[in-house]
Amino acid sequence: MSRLLEVLGMSAGYGLAPVLHDIGLYVDSGEVVAVIGANGVGKTTLLRTIAGIIQPSAGRIAFDGRPIGSTPAHDIVGQGLALVPEGGRLFPFMTVLENLELGAFNPSSREKTRTTLDEVMMLFPILAERKTQLAGSLSGGERQMCAIARALMSRPRLLMLDEPSAGLSPVMVERVFDMLRSVVASRNVTVLLVEQHVEDAPEIAQRAYVIERGRIVKTGSGAELMNDPDVQRAYMGL
Ligand SMILES: Nc1ncnc2c1ncn2[C@@H]1O[C@H](COP(=O)(O)OP(=O)(O)O)[C@@H](O)[C@H]1O
Ligand SMILES: [Mg+2]
Repeated sequence: MSRLLEVLGMSAGYGLAPVLHDIGLYVDSGEVVAVIGANGVGKTTLLRTIAGIIQPSAGRIAFDGRPIGSTPAHDIVGQGLALVPEGGRLFPFMTVLENLELGAFNPSSREKTRTTLDEVMMLFPILAERKTQLAGSLSGGERQMCAIARALMSRPRLLMLDEPSAGLSPVMVERVFDMLRSVVASRNVTVLLVEQHVEDAPEIAQRAYVIERGRIVKTGSGAELMNDPDVQRAYMGL
């Protein structure tokens, strides 16, 4: 198994306000890894920093062995790393198809747009049915699937998801995670996702990290963390 993403001693924030401190984590090819943490601890900032939207103030981020800590976001997409932002962030007044096509905008994926579109429609038949519909008219679950599909249009090797279960009913969460599982199995994609509730992640994630106030405080297998009394108290959302 090769190390696809490695973050070492990484700090980042906004202007003079530090948010993340000395972050260390890794994701191997083929893994699904979760980062669990309460609201406001820095999960979105973490994903945005890895994606190159925010520059780290210290430390190292390597993707497939290459440093990307000072690479601009669009070049990072070109290297095979895609982010599904919180809530999906689709363009509501564009159709499903137009949203998907935008996902392939990068030079590295643009010429394969048609092929990738066919592959993605096979994975998400519901999007094929809804392709001429405005993205803003999709249900919450469909919107999340469309956002995942749009990220897949860039043909990523690492897919990062910001709270994919947020705002969805338990049944929809299950469906979105089933989709993710088939994406991992069929498209050779590795996944790093962040979630607020620990019970949303372990069934899909082999490993997880717990983040508190911008620091990684625990790590283990999904099952280990599920059974950890501290974690249960803090993150079971019960
Ligand atoms: N654009 C921004 N400018 C300044 N501070 C921000 C910005 N976005 C988030 N923050 C702050 O960074 C901290 C972490 O936020 P965030 O990464 O969104 O946490 P999470 O995703 O875990 O809820 C919070 O204190 C938040 O207020
Ligand atoms: Mg967030």
